Amino acid sequence: MKRIGMLTSGGDCQALNVTMRGVAKGLYTLYGPEGVEIIGFIDGYKGLMYEDYRRLTPRDFAGLLTVGGTILGSSRTPFKLIREPDENGLDKVEAMKYTYRRLRLDCLVVLGGNGSQKTANLLSQEGLNVIGLPKTIDNDLWGTDTTFGFQSAIACATNVIDCIHTTASSHNRIFLVEVMGHKAGWLTLNAGMAGGADIILIPEIPYNIDAIVKKVEERSRRGHGFTILAVAEGAISRELAEMDKKDRKKALEKRMKNYPSVSYEIAAQITERTGKDVRVTVPGHMQRGGVPNAYDRVLSSRLGTQAALEISKGNYGNLIAIQNHKIVTVPLAEIAGKLKTVDPKGDIIEEARLLGISFGDE
Ligand code: F6P
Repeated sequence: MKRIGMLTSGGDCQALNVTMRGVAKGLYTLYGPEGVEIIGFIDGYKGLMYEDYRRLTPRDFAGLLTVGGTILGSSRTPFKLIREPDENGLDKVEAMKYTYRRLRLDCLVVLGGNGSQKTANLLSQEGLNVIGLPKTIDNDLWGTDTTFGFQSAIACATNVIDCIHTTASSHNRIFLVEVMGHKAGWLTLNAGMAGGADIILIPEIPYNIDAIVKKVEERSRRGHGFTILAVAEGAISRELAEMDKKDRKKALEKRMKNYPSVSYEIAAQITERTGKDVRVTVPGHMQRGGVPNAYDRVLSSRLGTQAALEISKGNYGNLIAIQNHKIVTVPLAEIAGKLKTVDPKGDIIEEARLLGISFGDE
């Protein structure tokens, strides 16, 4: 009997359940429903630390293709605190190892993004059999061309920009749509291009407010009364980017006192300089919710079933990734702690510029 632990960690996304379904279906096919026991830990690593889990059966994985969120629940367990004892003095790493061994697991499958895969790597180095699966709407995980959740989030953010387009043009307004993505601009770049944004601001290309205003005014001169900006939540001005870390932190704290987020600050600056009617839309966590799209369902099913295959081969310590359309394994040690960001000189940026999109930098 194979005994497999599974957990979903960090911010949720649309295709977590589909991925777990892929792992489970693959295992049930390879070992038969009687030949495998799947244990789901509740709320991410917390479930592994505090022995909060439930035994899952094939029935638990039925009907999940269209169900967003996670049937196991998720939580954030910051990697930087993982070596610190909890409020009751519990050694978190030892507690996780204890649960794994007490349940006589053959493998732990971790569905998670950057921070979660760092912990997965640590557990692997501590001697547990671990397999990582690349989850995040941010697409910022090293070692994989894409992550599950990303395409569904692009579809959601694009839909928001599409909706904003019609009202922006009716009222001749400037609209800023703030897109998630943490410190990476992938989601904003893709949704911005798909939604026909005129200006895209991403953390990898610090913006200059003068360049933004220039683009808005240029559009006005050409008879376009409205302008759409897709703004990454992590977008950063040139001035801030040039500061050292300490000064930047102070400046960001100051900004937070005046504006809820970067888009509101840029909106105020555009209003002040152009006198135009400016609005901000922040779809926020909507981008992580709802039904996974077709692309993610296929990707998640492929990644999940390949995880099952790796378990059957006893091949552990890897992230199951996609590279050049092929599912591959990449050592967790190689990807842990590395962030995949947009290359400001990459092809897609050049292509976007050729479409006339401004990145607020020139
Ligand atoms: O990592 C996914 C993500 O949605 C980021 O895009 C965003 O910055 C963050 O999580 C939001 O975190 P929380 O759900 O804790 O507010």
